[in-house]
Amino acid sequence: MNINVVNQLNMFDETAANQLLLQLKKKPNSAIAFATGSTPIGMYKKLVAWFRNGDIDFSQIQAFNLDEFADLDIESPNSFFSFLKRNLYNSVNIEPSHIHPIKNTEASVKACSNYEKEINSHGGIDLAILGIGLNGHIGYNEPGSDFDSLTHLVQLSSQTIEANSNMFGSYEETPKLGITMGIRTIMNSRKILLMARGEEKAKIVHRALYGSISKDIPASILQLHSNMVVVLDRKAAKYLKETA
Ligand code: F6R
Repeated sequence: MNINVVNQLNMFDETAANQLLLQLKKKPNSAIAFATGSTPIGMYKKLVAWFRNGDIDFSQIQAFNLDEFADLDIESPNSFFSFLKRNLYNSVNIEPSHIHPIKNTEASVKACSNYEKEINSHGGIDLAILGIGLNGHIGYNEPGSDFDSLTHLVQLSSQTIEANSNMFGSYEETPKLGITMGIRTIMNSRKILLMARGEEKAKIVHRALYGSISKDIPASILQLHSNMVVVLDRKAAKYLKETA
């Protein structure tokens, strides 16, 4: 585990974006799993800026969604697919045919197994970009998720629905179901970039990286990944010197 604690606020996004840059230099046709949420937005901005300067080329990548709402039209502005279009895909040179949204209009079991097939047909994920939920979720693998899971349908926890509800106006209007790459899908990625910023993430980051590996904290399994880079700001790294 390679933990980078970024002391300067403005360097967090650049440090994370640099991981993708390195990956694409090494393997231009990498398959990337992209997270949504507030954490990677600045990194995506940085990548768009680098693209506009001619410093990074996305033409060969295969772009996968880490997760998606299951009970929301993927063309809705609040879908994770729309988020990625808005924050990255529409502003860089990703081939439209290389973009792989989770097709949640298919029956969920079929959508999940088809997504796994699609990932495998591109040789598996080279780099999975992850944030971490306050309850330790990765993708939408909520506490209790099976470490052996592939892409699957999930009932979102009330904490996650609450956290999402600001986008939808109210808890009632917020989607309750997700489709997510499973923990095994994520762990099978050749490299993982885990990002967290802000004091509210400090406890869970510490627990996930140094606590016992347990299904209660899905991100704790990442301790077993042999090629993981963690990018944290100083606030999220607050408890890092102690053990859980
Ligand atoms: C989103 C995702 C989630 C988020 C997590 C942190 O695609 O997979 O696991 O990474 O909920 O969200 P933020 O970054 O908003 O704190």
